[in-house]
Amino acid sequence: MNENPMVPDIAAIEDDGRALSGVASMGHAIKPDEIDISHGTILYLDDVTVSFDGFRALNALSLTIDAGELRCVIGPNGAGKTTMMDVITGKTAPDAGKVFLGQSIDLTRMSEPAIARAGIGRKFQKPTVFENHPVWENLELAMKTDKGWWASLRARLDGAAQARIEATLELIHLEGEARRLAGELSHGQKQRLEIGMLLMQQPALLLLDEPAAGMTDHETMELAELLNKLRGTCSMMVVEHDMEFVAALAGETGRVTVMAEGHVLAHGTLDEVKRDEAVIESYLGR
Ligand SMILES: Nc1ncnc2c1ncn2[C@@H]1O[C@H](COP(=O)(O)OP(=O)(O)OP(=O)(O)O)[C@@H](O)[C@H]1O
Ligand SMILES: [Mg+2]
Repeated sequence: MNENPMVPDIAAIEDDGRALSGVASMGHAIKPDEIDISHGTILYLDDVTVSFDGFRALNALSLTIDAGELRCVIGPNGAGKTTMMDVITGKTAPDAGKVFLGQSIDLTRMSEPAIARAGIGRKFQKPTVFENHPVWENLELAMKTDKGWWASLRARLDGAAQARIEATLELIHLEGEARRLAGELSHGQKQRLEIGMLLMQQPALLLLDEPAAGMTDHETMELAELLNKLRGTCSMMVVEHDMEFVAALAGETGRVTVMAEGHVLAHGTLDEVKRDEAVIESYLGR
């Protein structure tokens, strides 16, 4: 029994996963539960380099994210943060280096859709929701549906799917807006809806690029609350400039990565990296 109404019903999600696991053998997708996190690592980047006309946007970037971790990544403009996400999601092919999801899934050999199916969800800065559809339908449309096997599973998925939509609505705090058109939502609500849509796909790893940009202070703190609640549901990497938001996510013990000039400049708690000489120089030296 799920005692906390703000957390999705894991039993329903797991049941869902089992129902679909036979599909993987048909070559449709790697299920998130097939990611090998036996070494405790969900994402592994090693010596990754990306050049644009000779300019190294990523320069021997190495980084790992632990399974279940919420990692904040900060760094000055042009540090390569978005490029790093482009590489992880298959939008940009690295010139060199390794990019692995878990121990065995080599992301550099996969297409963007295949990487998404493997369990990596990405939130861009601008919310992309179906404006002319109600909130509820946005979540429904976001759910994984592959017509071939969907039809045969439909009867049993319907109940579970409905429960998942309701749990997600509560989680993203839009339960009162289910019937409203997504286009009528505030910026902060749209951002939360998009995160909800990503969650419907049950990602193992969620990448968020400046999710708090353009938000009011109140919306920013609501978003921090949501992401903090998602801990344990999926691993997350959050790129952000808003330091109050980063502080709300990292707390006193969370690890923060500082990027500059295409590589990792510093790594530690927010307090530690703030006191780091190289970090101070990199921010002030621009
Ligand atoms: N497609 C591209 N072609 C050429 N240069 C690019 C391309 N994409 C990124 N760059 C360059 O690579 C560098 C890193 O850019 P990136 O967008 O990854 O930085 P960022 O850390 O996300 O910065 P910001 O905080 O401003 O979002 C920048 O100098 C940028 O101009
Ligand atoms: Mg960027």
